[in-house]
Amino acid sequence: MDSAEPLLSVRELSTRFAGSSRGALEAVTFDVPRGSIVALVGDSGSGKSLTALSIAGLLPEGAQATGGQILFEGRDLLQASARELAQVRGRGIGMIFQEPATALSAVHTVGWQLALALRAGGQLGPVPLLQSASRAGRAQVRELLVRVELPDPDALVDLYPHQLSAGMRRRLMIALALASQPALLIADEPTTGLDAPIQAQILDLFTRLAQGERRGLLFITHDLCVAAEIASEIVVLYAGQVVEAGPTRSVLGQPQHPYTLSLLENIPGHGSARWPASAASGPAAAPVLPLWPDAAGCSFAARCSQRAAAPERFMRCTGERPLLEPASARHRSRCFYPRLHGELEPRP
Ligand SMILES: Nc1ncnc2c1ncn2[C@@H]1O[C@H](COP(=O)(O)OP(=O)(O)OP(=O)(O)O)[C@@H](O)[C@H]1O
Ligand code: SF4
Ligand SMILES: [Mg+2]
Repeated sequence: MDSAEPLLSVRELSTRFAGSSRGALEAVTFDVPRGSIVALVGDSGSGKSLTALSIAGLLPEGAQATGGQILFEGRDLLQASARELAQVRGRGIGMIFQEPATALSAVHTVGWQLALALRAGGQLGPVPLLQSASRAGRAQVRELLVRVELPDPDALVDLYPHQLSAGMRRRLMIALALASQPALLIADEPTTGLDAPIQAQILDLFTRLAQGERRGLLFITHDLCVAAEIASEIVVLYAGQVVEAGPTRSVLGQPQHPYTLSLLENIPGHGSARWPASAASGPAAAPVLPLWPDAAGCSFAARCSQRAAAPERFMRCTGERPLLEPASARHRSRCFYPRLHGELEPRP
């Protein structure tokens, strides 16, 4: 693999549910370089989890990737054999799912679950897996618990998930995803619902895991403040399309797309120089107008304040579909009238 090549490169990915007239994901494109954290942000239903599940090859029944490429370490996962895919899923990509309750077994101990994950990831030999971690696996299980900075690992091994706090359960989920030593971690809303101090600790942990270990991290969140805190790049999804993407400083400092602007305006205290996680905005406001407007025009047209403010100028928005285009070297947006240098500038 070329070392300059991103660890993960999603190109023009389209995913569709059987029977649906429109794709749930349309031409989604972004990269995750090694050692970097990329945040995928957007409203509920914008396609964040579906993007993650497409990459991990774990789409729900009825959903199918219908186009594009998912290049992981240079190999297109959409063209890979079932055997190759199983290998990548088991060892190359670690997934932290959105629902902690479904990801953890209530009837097995912490140690048992971690030993099973180590074994599935090829990190532990075929030793008998007893209710508590086997002697051989105990050292590795302990090491995993230490890596996710859980206190008193020796005692934790024999506890059940319900005996842990919410923050400890999230750390356990991270440990499970790390068991196979994956090059890429995908974390779907891993801090949602946690108190601000615990959230901040978990964000710190993710930063160390990505940067210290040259891992790629795709961090999914509806919360722009969390994205700002952790990510070097932000990808904004709206109705299954990337509407804006680029370096965090640029996307948040000079947002070009009206949707990104509306997300920023929903943040209490918007306008401050810093974006602390403790100022978490909660879920973005529910759309007032239909999320899936007429397929002919811009998918944001029904909610766009820029278009509404100057309808004669934006007739184009309802008749033509904007493309995701670069305004600068690394900052792209999908809008005919991106906000450049604080002004609206029509694209040719
Ligand atoms: N099993 C399904 N059948 C049909 N449509 C589905 C199914 N699962 C998801 N969808 C649709 O796919 C789209 C993307 O859903 P997805 O779960 O990826 O959203 P999300 O951005 O992760 O939202 P949230 O922030 O609520 O987790 C939504 O419009 C949703 O209605
Ligand atoms: S293309 Fe038009 S409707 Fe779409 S976001 Fe830009 S200004 Fe708004
Ligand atoms: Mg989701």
